[in-house]
Amino acid sequence: MLPLLSQLLRDSDPDTLWIADENSKPLLDAGPLFPGAVLSNRWDIARAAEARGIKTQFCDFELAAIERRHSRIIYPVSKEKAAVHYIINCAPGALREGGELLLLGSKTSGIKTYAQKAAQRFACAKQLQKHGSDYLSRTQLSGTPLGPELDDSEYTQLRQLDELDGLYSKPGLFGWNKIDTGSALLASQFDEHLPPGEIRVVDLGCGYGYLSAQLAQAAGEDCQPYIEATDNNAAALIACEKNFQAQHIAGRVVAGDAGSDLESNSADLLVCNPPFHQGFQVEGDLTDRFLGQAARILRKGGSALFVVNEFIPLEKKAQSLFQQIVRLNKEKGFCVYHMTR
Ligand SMILES: C[S@@+](CC[C@H](N)C(=O)[O-])C[C@H]1O[C@@H](n2cnc3c(N)ncnc32)[C@H](O)[C@@H]1O
Repeated sequence: MLPLLSQLLRDSDPDTLWIADENSKPLLDAGPLFPGAVLSNRWDIARAAEARGIKTQFCDFELAAIERRHSRIIYPVSKEKAAVHYIINCAPGALREGGELLLLGSKTSGIKTYAQKAAQRFACAKQLQKHGSDYLSRTQLSGTPLGPELDDSEYTQLRQLDELDGLYSKPGLFGWNKIDTGSALLASQFDEHLPPGEIRVVDLGCGYGYLSAQLAQAAGEDCQPYIEATDNNAAALIACEKNFQAQHIAGRVVAGDAGSDLESNSADLLVCNPPFHQGFQVEGDLTDRFLGQAARILRKGGSALFVVNEFIPLEKKAQSLFQQIVRLNKEKGFCVYHMTR
């Protein structure tokens, strides 16, 4: 998909909006000059775009809030259907008359169905071209009345879910409507591993804030945690913020790339269920980056609690970073580790 995207970016005018998610990262690190604007729901992508001098907005795909009308929107479709449907629904409002929405994706991304749906929404004929193993869909705003909105699972709405023990969540973030099995195993260790006193805790890759909420609950009278929760994903930050308020959790929620903006040597405890997938790819070095940042953020003597898929060699990866590594549990395909700095 990258050669096709790269060509489209090169041919863009300054009124083009590129909706970039994690799949677009390589083109921000080293891609063609792009004269338009970028909108991304990933903090690292937004920072990379800014670093290249591109006008950038970091948000949860809030196209409806965009005032300027674009001549073109280029969107390599995301993995989550609700997000793609939401963007197709909002695109007409962000385009000027005659403007076009370009969707691109590989055969397995659902692009053929999205092309059909975009045509229905724009009330125009479907245009789908094959480029090697990728597809490009074009839909143009023609002034005819729009077709009905697609089902986007009410993308923008935070909702309180019984499945999450009453926490708030929304589409657009990792496993938004379930408790992750690995995270539940990690949280079951909190009772035994919370040091007493006023402690500074980091929830690295916080999602909607499940680990923070569990940790705040596990803290008895003799432990007062101040929790810094951080994530790369805009939807996660919105939901986590809401849960911190609703659950009266002491702390703050901050955007960052694997905790890149958190202070070094500052935390007594760090909890983490690191991401395994980045967009459509499995990303091997994400675990390494999360481990490296965890070691940087923790003070000497502080500890980290990590859960990972059982086939990730965490002990090997962490051995040069931590003094002591103990596996606390191996269950349901996951391993939980306690590591001391
Ligand atoms: C396996 S989930 C765990 C979520 C949450 N801690 C929980 O237990 O439900 C991993 C989280 O890491 C986040 N993430 C992915 N890449 C990241 C990055 N580069 N920096 C920070 N967070 C990231 C994802 O958005 C996701 O929320």
